[in-house]
Amino acid sequence: RIVYVLNGPNLNLLGKRQPHIYGHETLADVEAECRRTAAELRLELEFRQSNAEYQLIDWIHEARERAGGIVINPAAFTHTSVAILDALNACEFPIIEVHISNVHRREPFRHHSYVSLVASGVIAGFGTQGYPLALQRLARLIDDSEK
Ligand code: DQA
Repeated sequence: RIVYVLNGPNLNLLGKRQPHIYGHETLADVEAECRRTAAELRLELEFRQSNAEYQLIDWIHEARERAGGIVINPAAFTHTSVAILDALNACEFPIIEVHISNVHRREPFRHHSYVSLVASGVIAGFGTQGYPLALQRLARLIDDSEK
């Protein structure tokens, strides 16, 4: 069971960028945590980050061919990208949306998500802990769909 964890723009700066909002953990720390959780759940993990919308779309297409589900933090593209929504809509497997910060407590433009239209569930405001939680939920949804 392969799962993709996809991260959008500026998340390469995690730990350095606005730590009062996003915390001090780096994306490498998040990846390590996801790898531990994926191993426990017997999931094979592809963990990726890009600042480019087309790259995220290409990876969603790749996941569509070979994965059982996606965890995605689309970052700013959450609020802007119909193209990422369309790519996710072409996938038949479960999708979990993650935000490190509580987007609902922030600027109004962060309150709307295109990706939520296709997500099985959304985690926001749990810090980087949201990622392993999302993987747990994804594993459950994949298990249930196999029954
Ligand atoms: C984010 C929230 C977005 O609004 C923002 O553009 C990000 C990160 C989060 O993880 O809290 O870059 O997705």
